[in-house]
Amino acid sequence: MRRVSICLLAFPLFFQTGCQSQDELKQEKYFVEGYQLYTEHCANCHQTDGKGLEALYPPINGSDYLKNKEKIICLIRYGQNEPILVNGRRFNRPMPANAQLTDIDVAEITTYIYNKWGDEKVITDVKEASKALDLCRTQLQK
Ligand code: HEC
Repeated sequence: MRRVSICLLAFPLFFQTGCQSQDELKQEKYFVEGYQLYTEHCANCHQTDGKGLEALYPPINGSDYLKNKEKIICLIRYGQNEPILVNGRRFNRPMPANAQLTDIDVAEITTYIYNKWGDEKVITDVKEASKALDLCRTQLQK
């Protein structure tokens, strides 16, 4: 509490940028960079509003498929090609892989979609993303 009030007194105009905690700054970085990566690599198909495109590309916004986050982390890097149900609707086109995305890119994109459209308030840390990616890489190699 004391820190917050000193911040307010010392930097009334810069409160937003000047006095955020490390965690808040990290969350903002993940979210903003995740948004940029989403715009560049995903919005073509899933659209800026995350609502997908008719029967071709499934919605991420409000998707019940987001329940299994480890699977989503893998799909972002490795793509997916199997018929799936999203909110009771069937989709069966392949999603291409994004092999060029680093673990941190994947963590930031995951953070963006789960914060924006999945009711999450916390980040998906790069450690969590790396763990899921390592696991699915070994499964894919089998
Ligand atoms: C070329 C179009 C295309 C691009 C680009 C694309 N996707 Fe997909 N995505 C699909 C298709 C098609 C499926 C369904 C795949 C299946 O049936 O297995 C899908 C499935 C998904 C799903 C699971 C289903 C759902 O809607 O909840 C998520 C989440 C997702 N994509 C996120 C992303 C993210 C994040 C990116 C960017 C890194 C991305 N996609 C890029 C076409 C695309």
